[in-house]
Amino acid sequence: MRPSAIRPIEWADGNVVILDQTLLPHREEHLPCRRVEEVAEAIRSLRVRGAPLIGIAAAYGIALAAHSSGGSLQERVRSAAKLLQSTRPTARNLFWALERMLSAAEEGARPEELLGEAVAIHEEDAQTCRSIGEHGATLIPQGAGVMTICNTGSLATGGEGTALGVIRSAYAVGNSLRVLACETRPLLQGARLTMWELMRDGIPATLVTDGMAGTCMARGMADLVIAGADRIARNGDTANKIGTYSLAVLARHHGLPFYIAAPMSTVDLSLASGSEIPIEERDSDEVLAFAGAKSAPPGAAVFNPAFDVTPAELIAGIVTERGVMGAPYAESLSS
Ligand code: MRU
Repeated sequence: MRPSAIRPIEWADGNVVILDQTLLPHREEHLPCRRVEEVAEAIRSLRVRGAPLIGIAAAYGIALAAHSSGGSLQERVRSAAKLLQSTRPTARNLFWALERMLSAAEEGARPEELLGEAVAIHEEDAQTCRSIGEHGATLIPQGAGVMTICNTGSLATGGEGTALGVIRSAYAVGNSLRVLACETRPLLQGARLTMWELMRDGIPATLVTDGMAGTCMARGMADLVIAGADRIARNGDTANKIGTYSLAVLARHHGLPFYIAAPMSTVDLSLASGSEIPIEERDSDEVLAFAGAKSAPPGAAVFNPAFDVTPAELIAGIVTERGVMGAPYAESLSS
């Protein structure tokens, strides 16, 4: 069954309307943002999340600022871009979308044209997801067990998703695959969001905690792993949701291919390797509690990086809208 009709962000009546992902899967509430500050808060608090969708939200945030009053258009756009750049450091797509909006503004785009640019970024991402899905589907053997992490679907993009787009495309052409969705501690994007999307689409999926991944592989339940990306360095080193690196190491140990699926707007050719990727660290409260209930002694020391870096040598292929890139990534990604 396809396509999924989930629309996590829309421009409506001069507002950016966001599906509040912190409330899913229990409540589907839409939050109208009237000011760029509200969009920035929604990105920071993960009401809107996933690298491509963060970029789309930021583009709409610039359109909102352009349509507001006070100062010149250029000043409003520049200060909105500065605010949005400060929200989350790792997703390359955020900076890519803002660079695109800023250059349109510098070329003299009026507010309506800036909105048009944001809509174009949104719509292009839907097409990008379709292409990623089609290229990636060829990598999934018939009936495979496909392990994934975090949420890389319609809730994370402007379309059907990246890694989840690949899964959706393979399923749509008759692959009787089964998904193993890692719950994704600490904020449970896999449990809350990926399972919600897959169950809506009727794609067979089983939820496991992150710590069960090795056992699933050892028992032959997974044939491959596919994950998304927040930023890919020139050499193919890839930052993605915390826990991705562990899956890649486990996959190598069990002789399983580990793939990344991401748009070219996630690739940062200015960074030579993953050690240069800025990794967001988030509030300790996210680890001290589980789904809102305290789960550790108050004051416990916490380390809470939101992302980790998987070295390119563990990645069997990077699926982009231009095709499946192989090693050496410095050559395939640059060309
Ligand atoms: O912290 P999040 O929920 O924004 O993290 C999202 C991820 O890590 C995704 O895997 C990544 O952004 C790719 S989304 C297509």
